[in-house]
Amino acid sequence: MAKNPKLIAITSGKGGTGKSSICYGIGYTLAKQGNRTLIIELDFGLRCLDIMFGMSGKVQYDLGDVLSGKKKILDAVCVVPTASNLNIVCAPRDAFMKVTAEQVVEICRSVRQYFDYIIIDTGAGISSHVFDIVEQANLILVVTTPDPICIRDATMMSDEFYKRGNKRQRLIVNKLSKNDIKTGMITNLDEIIDTVGIQLLGVIPEDFALKEATGKGTPLSPTSPSLAAFDAISKRLTGETIPLSIK
Ligand SMILES: Nc1ncnc2c1ncn2[C@@H]1O[C@H](COP(=O)(O)OP(=O)(O)OP(=O)(O)O)[C@@H](O)[C@H]1O
Ligand SMILES: [Mg+2]
Repeated sequence: MAKNPKLIAITSGKGGTGKSSICYGIGYTLAKQGNRTLIIELDFGLRCLDIMFGMSGKVQYDLGDVLSGKKKILDAVCVVPTASNLNIVCAPRDAFMKVTAEQVVEICRSVRQYFDYIIIDTGAGISSHVFDIVEQANLILVVTTPDPICIRDATMMSDEFYKRGNKRQRLIVNKLSKNDIKTGMITNLDEIIDTVGIQLLGVIPEDFALKEATGKGTPLSPTSPSLAAFDAISKRLTGETIPLSIK
């Protein structure tokens, strides 16, 4: 059993960059590669993991029950039926419930023996609340899209982590489209990395299959381009050297 699972926080400056979709994709692929994986949804008020994994209406207990002391964290861990090794803890139904960094640490401590990876889906935005929680992670994945406003926000976020002494950051560029590539975004990919100032972990293409799968609550089609990207990212997370390939 893993005594010290890797705690990965997925965050972004701007909203809607794809954090939850990336939790979904990395969660599926890490689990498929044989890693016992838990996703904890800390984006209160924008609960969506249950829908993404086809478990809407089937989640008996969530983080709200744990934070209010009614249930233990293991009661809120739900097995994803469409993927072995994959589990989720959904955000509270009460959007105004608060969680502290100390509570997150305690939750992770009490389940760490059961998992190889714990992924935290966070809310967007530069708030001390998000910083305090995200800083508990062994690795912070900052998500941006090729959009300049997103890049600016990712840079501000990442700079703030650096200021606070946190150097364990990696960049994910999401929603890269064929148009971006045609219009020279490939050259700009280097620019994105240079601007944000953190090492690239992976690039995920704009992929309707991902939107469809997370909307319908089904696994990604084996031929979808984003699945290949998630697979490569998860392998890199587990220490494999997978070259970046952008088609
Ligand atoms: N690679 C992608 N290709 C196509 N659509 C995507 C991709 N990634 C995310 N999306 C879509 O973008 C929208 C926002 O994604 P998602 O909810 O995952 O973002 P988020 O960062 O978690 O948002 P929030 O800040 O609101 O929590 C969704 O409609 C999702 O289906
Ligand atoms: Mg989200």
